[in-house]
Amino acid sequence: MENITLVAFLLLVFCFTNTYYAPNSYAQPVDCLASDREALIDFKDGLDDPANQLSSWIDRKCCQWHGIRCDNRTGAVVAIDLPGSYNRYGLLNPSGVVRPSLMKLKSLRHLDLSLNSFNGIPIPAFLGSLENLQYLNLSYAGFRGKIPRNFGNLSHLKSLDISSEVLSLHAETLKWVTGLVSLEHLALRGVDLSMVGTDWVSAINTLPSLVELHLSDCSLQGHIPILPSLNFTSLAVMDLRSNDIVSKIPDWLVNITSLHHIDISHNHMYGSIPLGFGEMPNLLSLKLLDNENLTANCSQLFRGRWEKTQVLNLAANQIYGKLPSSFGNLTSLVHLDLSDNHIEGELPVSIGKLCNLNFFRLSHNKITGRLPEYLEGIDNGHSRKPFPYLKTFDLSFNQLRVKSQSG
Ligand SMILES: *[C@@H]1O[C@H](CO)[C@@H](O)[C@H](O)[C@H]1NC(C)=O
Ligand SMILES: *[C@@H]1O[C@H](CO)[C@@H](O)[C@H](O)[C@H]1NC(C)=O
Ligand SMILES: *[C@@H]1O[C@H](CO)[C@@H](O)[C@H](O)[C@H]1NC(C)=O
Ligand SMILES: *[C@@H]1O[C@H](CO)[C@@H](O)[C@H](O)[C@H]1NC(C)=O
Ligand SMILES: *[C@@H]1O[C@H](CO)[C@@H](O)[C@H](O)[C@H]1NC(C)=O
Ligand SMILES: *[C@@H]1O[C@H](CO)[C@@H](O)[C@H](O)[C@H]1NC(C)=O
Ligand SMILES: *[C@@H]1O[C@H](CO)[C@@H](O)[C@H](O)[C@H]1NC(C)=O
Ligand SMILES: *[C@@H]1O[C@H](CO)[C@@H](O)[C@H](O)[C@H]1NC(C)=O
Repeated sequence: MENITLVAFLLLVFCFTNTYYAPNSYAQPVDCLASDREALIDFKDGLDDPANQLSSWIDRKCCQWHGIRCDNRTGAVVAIDLPGSYNRYGLLNPSGVVRPSLMKLKSLRHLDLSLNSFNGIPIPAFLGSLENLQYLNLSYAGFRGKIPRNFGNLSHLKSLDISSEVLSLHAETLKWVTGLVSLEHLALRGVDLSMVGTDWVSAINTLPSLVELHLSDCSLQGHIPILPSLNFTSLAVMDLRSNDIVSKIPDWLVNITSLHHIDISHNHMYGSIPLGFGEMPNLLSLKLLDNENLTANCSQLFRGRWEKTQVLNLAANQIYGKLPSSFGNLTSLVHLDLSDNHIEGELPVSIGKLCNLNFFRLSHNKITGRLPEYLEGIDNGHSRKPFPYLKTFDLSFNQLRVKSQSG
C-alpha cells in the first residue's frame, strides 16, 4: 500500500517537474556546446571589461551568460548582444580587441558590439567570414580605418549598422554591398564615403529587399545619377542628410512609391523640386532644407495631394510664388517649415484647414496682406482654434499687417 502511494507520489512529482520544467529546459539546454564556450572565453580574454559586465561568463552554462543566446535544440551560440551604453565618457564600456575566436561560432547570426570603446582599432576583417550573420551592429564602437570589403560576403545579412563618429571610418567603394543580397537595413552614418564617387546609387539599387538607407554625414559628393530601372520596391527610408551632393533631385526618386521618409537636407541640390513628391502615396516626411539653389513655384508644388504628408521642411531654399488655396488640402500636416524662402502674396484662408499643425514656420519670406483674423493673437504656447495642437508659430520677417497696427 505504502509502496503504491510512494510510486504514485513519485509519478506525480515526475509529471509535475516534466510539464513544469520541460519548456524551460527546451528553451535553454542544460549546457552549451563546449567548443562555443571555449571560443567565447577566448573572445572575452581579448576584451578589457572595467565594469565587469561579463562577470557571468565563467560557468559551464554559456547559454545563460549575459548577452548570449543559443539555439534551443543544438545549444549552439546564435547571438552575442553586447551593446555598450552611453555612460559617463563611455569609460566603463568594454574595449580591447575583437579576437578571431568568434569565427569558431559557426551558428552565430546576431552580433551587436555597438557603443563599445574599441579605441581606434580597425574593424576586424574576419567578421566578413561569419557567413551566417543576419544582424551586425558595430555602430559608434570606436573603430577606425577602412570598412573591410569582404563584408560583401555576408549574403544572409539583413541589417548592417556601421555608423560612426564623423569620418573615423571610411570606404573607398561601395561595390561590395551588392553582395549583401538579403539586406533590409543599411546604416553608414558618419562613414567617410567621399571616395566612392556616384557608384553608391547603382550599388544600392541592386538590393531588392532594402527598406532603410541611412547615409547621413558621409561626405558623399557629386551628382545622383539617372537609373535605367528601379529595384527599390521596399525602400521606406532614405536619409542622405548632410552630405556634399551637388545634383538635381533625380526623377526616379518620386517613382519609389514605398517611400515614407526622405531627407536630403544640408546638401547642394539645385533645380526644381519634382512635383511628383506631392503624389507619392506613402510619403510621411520630406525634408529638403538648406539646399540654397533648390527652387519651386508654390502655386504648382502645393497643387499636389500630399495625402499623408505630416512633415514638410523646405526651409532655406529658393521657393517662390504664392501659396495657392489648395494648400488647405494638406490636412495631414503636423510640422511645416517654409521659412527663409521667397514666398509672396497673401496667406490663403484655407490655411485654417490645417488643423493638425503643431509647428508652423513661414518666417523670412515676402508674405503680404493682413494676417488672417484667426491667426491674430496666436503666440507660441497659446494656440487657439483652428490650430488646437500648435506649439511653434513663426511668421516673423514678412510684410504682414496686423489689424491692431493698421488702426
Ligand atoms: C525555442 O523554444 C521556445 C519554446 O520554449 C519556442 O517558442 C521558440 O520558438 C524556440 N526558438 C527557436 C529559435 O527554435
Ligand atoms: C545599432 O545599435 C545602436 C546602439 O545600440 C542602436 O541605436 C541602433 O538602432 C542599432 N542599429 C540597428 C540597425 O539595429
Ligand atoms: C570574401 O570576400 C573576399 C574579398 O571580397 C574574397 O576574396 C573571398 O573569396 C570571399 N570569401 C568567400 C568565402 O566568399
Ligand atoms: C535588381 O536586383 C537584381 C537582384 O539583386 C539584380 O540582379 C539586378 O541587376 C538589379 N537591377 C539593377 C538595375 O540594378
Ligand atoms: C518613373 O516614372 C515615370 C512616369 O511614370 C516613367 O516615365 C519613368 O521611366 C520612371 N523612371 C524610372 C527610373 O523608373
Ligand atoms: C547656386 O547658384 C549660384 C548661381 O548659379 C552659384 O553661383 C552657386 O555656387 C550655387 N550654390 C550652390 C551651393 O550650389
Ligand atoms: C507659378 O505658377 C503659376 C501657375 O502655373 C503661374 O501662374 C505663376 O506665374 C508662376 N509664378 C512665377 C513667379 O513664375
Ligand atoms: C484642393 O483644394 C482646391 C481649392 O481649395 C479644391 O478646389 C480641390 O477640390 C481640392 N482638391 C482635393 C483633391 O481635395
